Amino acid sequence: MEIRSLLLILSVCGPTWATTLDMDYGGVPLWINRFLGEPSVLTLRDRMEPGWFRAVNRQSCPLECDCPIQWPTALYCEYRGLHQLPEGLPSRTQYLFLQGNALTGFNSRAFAYASNLRWLFLDRNQVLSERFDHMLSNHTRLVYLFMNHNNLTEVPAGLPSGLKQLRLAYNHIEKIPPGAFQNLQNLTLLLLQGNHLKAIGEADFKGLPFLNLLDLSHNLLDTFPKHLPPSVQQLYLTSNALTGMSEDSLQGFNGLHYLRLSHNQLKNEGLAYGAFNVTSLVELDLSYNQLTEIPVVPTTLQYFYLEVNHIREFNVSSFCRKMGPTSYSRIKILRLDGNKMTHHQLPPDWPFCLRVLYNIYI
Ligand SMILES: *[C@@H]1O[C@H](CO)[C@@H](O)[C@H](O)[C@H]1NC(C)=O
Ligand SMILES: *[C@@H]1O[C@H](CO)[C@@H](O)[C@H](O)[C@H]1NC(C)=O
Ligand SMILES: *[C@@H]1O[C@H](CO)[C@@H](O)[C@H](O)[C@H]1NC(C)=O
Ligand SMILES: *[C@@H]1O[C@H](CO)[C@@H](O)[C@H](O)[C@H]1NC(C)=O
Ligand SMILES: *[C@@H]1O[C@H](CO)[C@@H](O)[C@H](O)[C@H]1NC(C)=O
Repeated sequence: MEIRSLLLILSVCGPTWATTLDMDYGGVPLWINRFLGEPSVLTLRDRMEPGWFRAVNRQSCPLECDCPIQWPTALYCEYRGLHQLPEGLPSRTQYLFLQGNALTGFNSRAFAYASNLRWLFLDRNQVLSERFDHMLSNHTRLVYLFMNHNNLTEVPAGLPSGLKQLRLAYNHIEKIPPGAFQNLQNLTLLLLQGNHLKAIGEADFKGLPFLNLLDLSHNLLDTFPKHLPPSVQQLYLTSNALTGMSEDSLQGFNGLHYLRLSHNQLKNEGLAYGAFNVTSLVELDLSYNQLTEIPVVPTTLQYFYLEVNHIREFNVSSFCRKMGPTSYSRIKILRLDGNKMTHHQLPPDWPFCLRVLYNIYI
């Protein structure tokens, strides 16, 4: 009896935790908590007949949008060619889908009645910074603000303090106003890739105690940024113009697991000996750089990508400073393909160091 009810609970719970791959929303999958009644992120266009919604749903619904009866708190107004926010947003709205329109900004009271907003999706519009600042500062329930692929030139000022995810990838952002993130105590994910950031100032990322994922790829950074939040576990700096890292570049990042630095201009001369001396590191991507030697990495590293560099030699001391029963490298995957070396250059002692290697590509 008890077992049967347990099985029933499992079969009810199983499919209700659903993630949806959301390439539309900046690449990082969005978790949807169906227990909270969170709606589908998939567009309803061509999947549901809008006239049907209107016929069966007696709740008010702006003409430009769809209001599905199964998610009364969601409003789907995406890809409608809108130049302005639809009039009369219902105050019940918690999940607002506005991506793929032609919105450039909002008047100051635009969201005033939608005070219960939890998600606001504005990806692929043309929103300008000056027409967005302080727009949502009173929306303390807002947890996801997605504005990838817009025309922002600065991180918006006056962001609401409850945000957990802020996606601002592929804008024209050159500047982070001082204290822009100061109040975002709960932010865990911040996407800024595909912008025009040249440098990171001391106060730029102040006040992000729980930031977990920071993506600064595809910017114009030419020195490894200092003053990043030490809580980050995933730090992406792919496709910048970095040439090196100092001994203290990663100092204090005690929980850093994934570091991606591919497609930069890293050279061995620019890399300090202890630059990657972070024992929490699980994955290090240095592919597509200008390295001639394998940098020294901690023995705890598991995934190491070095493809397409100019590496000519394999020195076991990059992986193991000494060898013993417990002193060996935990590397499982090592990519060295697209370099200037062959299998024959592996020294005879390498299997004693790389003992748990699963795959090596040369
Ligand atoms: C936020 O709330 C304050 C105080 O209630 C009010 O003065 C201000 O106009 C509001 N801001 C917006 C953008 O609605
Ligand atoms: C937004 O930027 C695109 C180019 O990325 C440009 O074509 C468009 O005119 C800009 N829109 C506004 C409102 O500035
Ligand atoms: C941060 O999250 C916690 C837990 O969900 C919540 O109690 C708190 O109010 C949030 N902080 C802000 C500023 O919204
Ligand atoms: C790495 O850091 C540890 C302390 O965390 C230190 O004892 C050790 O000397 C460092 N090694 C290198 C190569 O910098
Ligand atoms: C490997 O690197 C260590 C430390 O940099 C150096 O002392 C040693 O000579 C190198 N070995 C080879 C075979 O180049």
